[in-house]
Amino acid sequence: RKPITTLRLSQMREQGEKIAILTAYDATFAAVADAAGVDCLMVGDSLGMVCQGRSSTVGVSLESMLYHTQCVTQGLLRTEGRALIIADLPFGTYQQSKDRAIESAIQLMQAGAQMVKLEGGGWTTEIVAFLVERGIPVCAHLGLTPQTVSALGGYRVQGRQAAAADKMRAEASALDDAGASMMVLEMVPAELASRITQAMHACATIGIGAGSGTAGQVLVMHDMLGLNLGRMARFVRNFMHDAGDVQGAFAAYVRAVKDGVFPDKTLHAW
Ligand code: KIV
Ligand code: NA
Repeated sequence: RKPITTLRLSQMREQGEKIAILTAYDATFAAVADAAGVDCLMVGDSLGMVCQGRSSTVGVSLESMLYHTQCVTQGLLRTEGRALIIADLPFGTYQQSKDRAIESAIQLMQAGAQMVKLEGGGWTTEIVAFLVERGIPVCAHLGLTPQTVSALGGYRVQGRQAAAADKMRAEASALDDAGASMMVLEMVPAELASRITQAMHACATIGIGAGSGTAGQVLVMHDMLGLNLGRMARFVRNFMHDAGDVQGAFAAYVRAVKDGVFPDKTLHAW
């Protein structure tokens, strides 16, 4: 089993093989998800909610991200895993300046990340270009961006109105041109997510609550195992329901993403 690289991910995008991603925060779950065939593991700042019990991702520190990135990296090293590790730049570690962004990104890379993710469009474009030029692969994130939930007025679908959709499409194209390898589209109408996906030159779109027209999918691992402290998002499927064990649930998710049967038309955010 060959390791997943950014080159392999761009081949998958070009050949239309869907990219299956799950979040991971510790060594054991990382190794199990990898063994189930997950292409990328995302050390998301959602760890603030699922590991730390916070009500949002806003308070997550870089230190916490580094700790969990090291745990996931160690899990893959021990098991000779192949998944590519993506780590979130948490709120307050890239907004200030390009220098601040690259210092934070370097720390995540040194902890084992192979790609960093940051939220937002427009002002992030030059930060993405700055990191990419210096050898740091970047995943962008548009639509519902949890770090700015206060400004967005809650966890709700983004890009419904024509003006907001046009703005998102322009931001996505600018991030593609800036060299982003991937782009999470969260809680975006399926039609808009598909249009953005079609317009990309090199960037692989990864949907969550954004329909099935994207180059790949991501879910929070706890959500797809049916483990949730609050209300389950409407676009999540419980893959544990029909699986015998956790690795079976992860494998069923990978198969459903690759076959294009997850998400189906009933699983959406709007
Ligand atoms: O923090 C996270 O887990 C994420 C993914 C759900 C995209 O940002
Ligand atoms: Na995140």
